[in-house]
Amino acid sequence: MGKKTKTYGYNGPFLGPTIRVERGQNIHIHTQNRLKQATSFHWHGAILDDSSDGGPHQTVAAGQNKLISFKVNQPAATLWYHPHAVGSTASQVYNGLAGFLLVDDQNSRQLKLPRNYGKDDFPIVVQDRSFDKNNQLDYKKIVSSNGTLGNTLLINGTQNPYIETTTKYVRLRLLNGSNAREYTFKLDDRSSFYQISTDGGFLKKPVQENKITLAPGERAEIVVDLGHYSQGSQVKLKSADSNILTMKVKNNHDGETKLPRQLTNLQTVTKSGQKVTQNIALSDMGHMVSINNRQFSMNRIDLKVKQNTTQVWKIRNKNNMMGEIHPFHIHGVQFRLLSINNNASPSNMHGWKDTIMTRPGNQYKILIKFTQTGVFMYHCHNLEHEEAGMMGQIRVVP
Ligand code: C2O
Ligand code: CU
Repeated sequence: MGKKTKTYGYNGPFLGPTIRVERGQNIHIHTQNRLKQATSFHWHGAILDDSSDGGPHQTVAAGQNKLISFKVNQPAATLWYHPHAVGSTASQVYNGLAGFLLVDDQNSRQLKLPRNYGKDDFPIVVQDRSFDKNNQLDYKKIVSSNGTLGNTLLINGTQNPYIETTTKYVRLRLLNGSNAREYTFKLDDRSSFYQISTDGGFLKKPVQENKITLAPGERAEIVVDLGHYSQGSQVKLKSADSNILTMKVKNNHDGETKLPRQLTNLQTVTKSGQKVTQNIALSDMGHMVSINNRQFSMNRIDLKVKQNTTQVWKIRNKNNMMGEIHPFHIHGVQFRLLSINNNASPSNMHGWKDTIMTRPGNQYKILIKFTQTGVFMYHCHNLEHEEAGMMGQIRVVP
């Protein structure tokens, strides 16, 4: 057995409760910081104004309480929450602070999709960690300025988990909650599955695929069809050689028999006729990382936009020798991907996004409308890059 690992958690030892909210609902969350250092409560992917966003300007000091209130005003989605104080985001997430925030709406309630939490609908957060010889997570010892990687995969805080399934369809809400590692998920028998959502909501239609890559911060919901497996067999979701989740098929007759053909009415966006209003250059690695050649300053507003204007950002990952990826995230909005290197983006990326994986040398055009006012962060979601200064601030003025 050995020593117990010291961890951080929300309302418990590690990770946090899944919070479920409904579109239109007014949410009040009593937060309390029992750590010995400041933290904040950031709602990643939520469209809300800056006072509830929980970014670096809304920290809660050690021992303090804060009531967070906001109105849920966005479509059904798998969002998440985690700390965001400057200098401690990466270590606090690493120690266990993260949780799911699930939004439901009228549409998601009536769609014929698995939605029995813990029965055919599972949140799956994937994180890599390293344990020292005393079984501790020693962030300071293993931190790397280029992204901290662990050698042990934790799925919902556990290793090598399994579920016993009883339905034909199983829905997995995948979240890459790692500091820096990306994952490509596949089924071990190479079967395909259906992707039904991106970061901020449903895709228009289920997209059939046999692998899906998520960068830190990104989410996707997938539906696995267990109908053609025999009872008693098992199928594994894997990333490279690592087990993510074993599904043991106990029964596969229950639940829906057919997936909906349409999931939501998502407006189609096209890459043509969209003029770039803002260039974003992501550069370098380690302590040298920057956005538009600058590193983060709490006291500097980097960009300004008027509320409700439509913006097109061209985000370029400037190539460097090491071929760094930078998952680019913007607070307070959901955006749409218009193109990658001026080519149409793949259909599984057509939905609402708040984090976009950028690869070296590539450029990504996104369409954004800032509907909330205040100061919002945009940054690389490699948490060590973020801590090293790969973050900027945009002020949205009414
Ligand atoms: Cu998930 Cu600014 O963060
Ligand atoms: Cu980065």
